Amino acid sequence: RWGGSLPDRSSKFTKLTPDHIKAIRELLSSPGSLISTLDNSASPEDLAGFNNDWMGKYFGKSPVVVKPKTPEEIGKVMKYCYDNDIAVVPQGGNTGLVGGSTPIHDELILSTANLSSVRSFDPVSGILVADAGAILETVDHYLAEKGFIFPLDLGAKGSCHIGGNVATNAGGLRLLRYGSLHGSVLGLEAVLPDGTVWDGLSTLRKDNTGFDLKQLFIGSEGTIGIITAVSILCPRRPTAMNVAVFSLPSYEAVQKVYAEAKSHLGEILSAFEFFDKQGFALSSKHIEEIHGSERKIFETEGDFYCLIETGGSNAEHDEAKLSGLLEHLMSNEMVLDGVLAQDQTQFASLWSLRELLPEACGKAGSVYKYDLSVPVGKMYGLVEKMRKRLRDEGLLVGDGQKEGPIRACVGYGHMGDGNLHINIVANKYSEEIEKVIEPYVYEIVAAENGSISAEHGLGVMKAPYVSYSKNQTSIDMMRKIKQLFDPKGLLNPYKYIQ
Ligand code: FAD
Ligand code: MLT
Ligand code: ZN
Repeated sequence: RWGGSLPDRSSKFTKLTPDHIKAIRELLSSPGSLISTLDNSASPEDLAGFNNDWMGKYFGKSPVVVKPKTPEEIGKVMKYCYDNDIAVVPQGGNTGLVGGSTPIHDELILSTANLSSVRSFDPVSGILVADAGAILETVDHYLAEKGFIFPLDLGAKGSCHIGGNVATNAGGLRLLRYGSLHGSVLGLEAVLPDGTVWDGLSTLRKDNTGFDLKQLFIGSEGTIGIITAVSILCPRRPTAMNVAVFSLPSYEAVQKVYAEAKSHLGEILSAFEFFDKQGFALSSKHIEEIHGSERKIFETEGDFYCLIETGGSNAEHDEAKLSGLLEHLMSNEMVLDGVLAQDQTQFASLWSLRELLPEACGKAGSVYKYDLSVPVGKMYGLVEKMRKRLRDEGLLVGDGQKEGPIRACVGYGHMGDGNLHINIVANKYSEEIEKVIEPYVYEIVAAENGSISAEHGLGVMKAPYVSYSKNQTSIDMMRKIKQLFDPKGLLNPYKYIQ
């Protein structure tokens, strides 16, 4: 496997020995909270799920995983690591897509998997306080029973942790409706690199007493502290939800439909996603393989597809609005075809066309993932530029070949957020392919004053490329913040900003 040219191991970090493992185990209330190959309490296979990332692109060689049960235990482990110069990688559900959650070399893996309880929920304000290791989907089910919704949804919800979501400032499928975590997170508890447990777990909506420190942790990707609990404002769960998927002739048509959807649906629009025909082909194939049967969804297929979701509190009112939009789109021939979910099963099945895209791409090969932000009108131009480059370099033939170096170059994303995902599906990760794509992809983003990471973060993948999106003054300020929190550079080394 080729995970890119990664930094060498720094000799400033201590190499773990069985004595370190013994000492750390003694800090934990339960001996089973630590597994290691150094004392034979684990085999390399036991650690594989922690050392290898979701894409099969990045793989570390850590000999130890520690899963403390309380923030105080994390504090003790961190203090020990701080005193002994041991590098640490915080890990949640390990669904990150930029090589941030796995070690680069032999860093200790500190997992939040054993901190997974809901601490409190106030049904009047909608404020939830939960441990960082709680799985997003589990928390959302808990909230659903109370008529509330977690203000973030994403395809990895069955595995990712809410602490990981905050650490990456995940965007997801409904940011258009509920906004960024920078707005909904009210407070955090975190363990600092020296082991101090910081209680910033406010449940106040308004608090102007000085710097808003929690904001530094949102999107910090495990570089300045370990988030151990999250306080977050959760909206009421919509009681009426609808979803429709359309096939369209062009990216211009997708943009027009987006404008119409906003104007017809107003406050009930909860998601607007798009994907191209290459993405549709992969996700349809993947879904057919899951169900073991062929399914024809559209009479007329298109070069593009968009998914529109509404969420409101009055089914009749929402349906009237949605029907108005559908009639308008059909009568003005703005779409080629469309399907509106008739029941809960169809709702999930239409969503799966979009939600299963990352999995479908992963099944088709080794995926180079790019997560970019540019003005909506410019988004698809980047995919076209990338395809041209891959074709010019002889890597992509036509729209891709099963046996060729590049099997597909797929474009999809969160239209409402100006967030484009380019997934380049290769037959394998290789230096040759990576050099054709990078830094070219970042250059074309910089030319549009865009962001090289709209939502997945920097990790190890984009750490060398931050300057394509941030000026030197911003990078210097970020370095100073890192230095302030983590003067020894022990937390998630080699990543974020180098
Ligand atoms: P991990 O992968 O374990 O860690 C991610 C980063 O956060 C690492 O740098 C890690 O060190 C750090 N970290 C984790 N937990 C903590 C903590 N408690 N304290 C401090 N640092 C911590 N992302 C989006 O933004 N939008 C999407 O729509 C989206 N969809 C996805 C769909 C799929 C199928 C997959 C596999 C991933 C998707 N992602 C998406 C990316 C990923 O799911 C998110 O980044 C998620 O927020 C990561 O959570 P996690 O618990 O898995 O974190
Ligand atoms: C998505 O929008 O599906 C996610 O960001 C994950 C991905 O792009 O792979
Ligand atoms: Zn996304």
